[in-house]
Amino acid sequence: MKIDILTIFPNMFDGAFSESIIKRAIEDNKIEINIINFRDYTTDPHNKVDDTPYGGGAGMVLSCQPIFDCVESLKTKDSKVILLTPAGIPYKQKLAYKLSEEKHLIIICGHYEGFDERIASLADYEISIGDYVLTGGEIPAMAIVDSITRLLPGVINEESHREDSFKQDNNRYLLDYPTYTKPADFRGMKVPEVLLSGHHENIRKYREEESLKRTKERRPDLLEVENEED
Ligand code: ADE
Repeated sequence: MKIDILTIFPNMFDGAFSESIIKRAIEDNKIEINIINFRDYTTDPHNKVDDTPYGGGAGMVLSCQPIFDCVESLKTKDSKVILLTPAGIPYKQKLAYKLSEEKHLIIICGHYEGFDERIASLADYEISIGDYVLTGGEIPAMAIVDSITRLLPGVINEESHREDSFKQDNNRYLLDYPTYTKPADFRGMKVPEVLLSGHHENIRKYREEESLKRTKERRPDLLEVENEED
């Protein structure tokens, strides 16, 4: 898979993909990530990429021309374009799985007070990573790239993501069960007996129950069977 990230703050990505699993996925050619400064595409003599909003109001708005030209120079028939905005559809694991099957993603990081609405016409998906407003799409882009990369074949062992929080179970996504490591007793806090028992079937049942219990307590919304399409 190839991912092109369009930003005017390329330095924000320094380090983001140079550690751990993502680093290895890049080295193993499972993923190619390009950070592209769309300011390089502006035709403005002063290198501007934004302007004041029609109708008045605070702040600057990203202009169409640099982003259209940049996307059009990268796009092929295999590309899907993602625009990051707090007004987008909520990003969920289900969409991470779907995007991980694409060949080429172009991710546009919005900034400042927003972007010219006509930029949305380039996008296959407008995505929000949560109900809060960040200063731009760079951190959301990192989160999305991270969540997709770990799902690519051969990046981590498949059992790990089948057992994840948000694993799919009868079309539901459940939170992960609690896990423990040594020692069995830490300051009086004991590891549940069943996990020390070596009884695989009981352990499986315990984990399933804990997963459901946690989801009921913390995220009952996840238990409503999802019928909606992405
Ligand atoms: N840009 C600013 N806030 C955002 C969010 N929550 N999700 C996606 N893009 C954003």
